[in-house]
Amino acid sequence: MFSLENCYQNFLDSNPYPRELTSYDIAHKGLHMHLMHQDKLLINFCSNDYLGLAKHPLLISRSQEYAEKFGVGAASSRLVCGNFSIYEQLENQLAKALNKPAALILGTGYQANISVLEALLDSKVLGQKPLVFCDKLCHASMLTSIYSKAHVLRFKHNDLNHLETLLNKYSEVNQPKFILAESVYSMEGDSANLPGLIELAKRYHTFLYIDDAHAVGVCGKKGWGVAPEFAEEIDIIMGTFSKGLGSFGAYIGCSVTLRNYLVNKCKGLIYSTGLSPAILGAISAAIEILPQLENERQKLIMNANKIRHFFQQNAINYGNSNTHILPWIIGDAKDTLRVSQKLTEMGVLGTTIRPPSVPTGLCRIRFCLSSAHSDSDIQHFLTAIQKVCSSRKSTHSV
Ligand SMILES: Cc1ncc(COP(=O)(O)O)c(C=O)c1O
Repeated sequence: MFSLENCYQNFLDSNPYPRELTSYDIAHKGLHMHLMHQDKLLINFCSNDYLGLAKHPLLISRSQEYAEKFGVGAASSRLVCGNFSIYEQLENQLAKALNKPAALILGTGYQANISVLEALLDSKVLGQKPLVFCDKLCHASMLTSIYSKAHVLRFKHNDLNHLETLLNKYSEVNQPKFILAESVYSMEGDSANLPGLIELAKRYHTFLYIDDAHAVGVCGKKGWGVAPEFAEEIDIIMGTFSKGLGSFGAYIGCSVTLRNYLVNKCKGLIYSTGLSPAILGAISAAIEILPQLENERQKLIMNANKIRHFFQQNAINYGNSNTHILPWIIGDAKDTLRVSQKLTEMGVLGTTIRPPSVPTGLCRIRFCLSSAHSDSDIQHFLTAIQKVCSSRKSTHSV
């Protein structure tokens, strides 16, 4: 007999890359990047907490203060009664930091990309079905809503020649056009050529949407990401509070018209409960201290360069990474899992990434660095990698 439960079980049974949830605990209060898993101490190289702000005393105390003042829940959408007056102050601060006329805070990065793009691509509003030119490696949240709204053309990752070929092909077509890209790609740790994208967007009269999620905190003037440096020429700058800014939630920087439009059209804003005031407290503190964290940013970049140098010397393929995110591209899924397990045994926790997150044959372990890693954490990491490399060289596997 037909059973839905069987359908889902069949999917699980036939999935060559099953995912599972693993539990971790924070190991010590003071040591940001140390986790416990089944009584084993692990140094965390998976975290997006690039500046260690998730445990920063000011974020914690402001979060407590706001929870006490406003409660832990917003109790409704911002369009109903969940729009605490603090939003206005935060959005003004954000707009200034992003060099944009306006800003809008949304639930999560995932929700922001899905629902902002869904609203922007509305063909009833635009008069025609739009064309979307999207980098091949854009995050899942940028892809989810666009296929039902637009004709989507994916260009090869960071390949502006390919993008230009596609733009050229459709240059006579009168449909509205959008380019979607990230400034720093989360699986590769490489960067987009923003001036090149801007030049093409201008030449082909195309709306430019940049997801700056992995650059925020780390790159750019005062840590506000790469995109604000080119703000005038980017229509929407999207960023998150959930990575380098240590807490949760997302924002966009845009024109006043776009902000007003999204308040009327963006379902993720209209039909979803506003952020918890405790989170707004953490956001407020992160906005306040971000410009002061220049030493942390420098330390992070120095450590990333040190590790890249070490990878080069050990013939480790890290692709085109030029940021604080470094993949070790191994290729085969089983081999990647073996290396990852070996590293975990040595107390180094990286993220094993397999299809569908990356194409078959490009499996990898992704290491994310944080300024909260101590010198001894980094040394431990290098020693563990060195040991794995030596044993792979002697046995051709681990
Ligand atoms: C490029 C990019 N955009 C958006 C998101 C989603 O952000 P959030 O975790 O705040 O939902 C992610 C998350 O990993 C991301 O990598």
